[in-house]
Amino acid sequence: MAAVTDREIRSIPGWFFRTDWAMFRFALSESGRQIAVGDLAEIGAYLGKSAVLIGEYLRDGEVFTVIDLFGAESDDAANSAENAAQYPVLTKRKFEDNYRRVHGNLPTVIQAPSSEITEHAAQGRHRFVHVDGSHLYDHVAGDVTASRLLLAEQGVVVFDDYRTVHAPGVAAAVWQAMDDGLKPFAVSETKLYATWGDAEPWTRAIDTWMPASGLNHEVDAIAGHSVYRVWSPPNIVGRTAMSAFNLVQRLRA
Ligand SMILES: C[S@@+](CC[C@H](N)C(=O)[O-])C[C@H]1O[C@@H](n2cnc3c(N)ncnc32)[C@H](O)[C@@H]1O
Repeated sequence: MAAVTDREIRSIPGWFFRTDWAMFRFALSESGRQIAVGDLAEIGAYLGKSAVLIGEYLRDGEVFTVIDLFGAESDDAANSAENAAQYPVLTKRKFEDNYRRVHGNLPTVIQAPSSEITEHAAQGRHRFVHVDGSHLYDHVAGDVTASRLLLAEQGVVVFDDYRTVHAPGVAAAVWQAMDDGLKPFAVSETKLYATWGDAEPWTRAIDTWMPASGLNHEVDAIAGHSVYRVWSPPNIVGRTAMSAFNLVQRLRA
């Protein structure tokens, strides 16, 4: 697949930020090194902002499956209310138009609740799974289990909104999974990166990659795991806008 540009990612509305663009590129490349052939999956695609970047890393013999309700009713009223409030204008067609504009063709697109992902995507064969569907505890707990079933031994799973104040159910489901063998190796402001396999090769790889990544980092020890906390330095545009804002404030004072 052709390289996806920052401009193409920016052109699609969604919740996928610069630090995680770099982290996804790392996780997708590195999973390709650790697993010779492995599928990719995304639970919760919205308009395709993260999916188009994932799609860049699809190789011959691999399948990329995307599952989303895309505006359909959920069989859980709380989930339907969540979606009506957050994604009122979402349709499968809008996702497909955005994805096709970047890649020309489509991944395997399933319009269904995420609880059905293991019926559509091969179990034990994935190298990368992005969990970004419902943010309600019961659904995320189901997605955590599905990620374990889908992933190959050394595959990587990424959880969105693992610590945000508006989604405590995600935090509960994700951290709880550590008791069942989930091993986190990195966190950004919005996403947690983990494996159900051996975290050591992932820790070594991120350690090697980090100096040239353009990201800042610290390493936290969490329940015996070395977890890289990563963040982007402020960009030039952001810094210039902030300086202009500060100047205007000073002139006004
Ligand atoms: C936060 S958005 C995904 C954002 C997207 N990954 C991005 O980076 O822009 C969450 C998505 O999950 C979908 N969703 C919510 N509940 C779901 C469920 N039970 N099963 C499948 N998809 C669900 C919503 O329709 C929405 O598109």
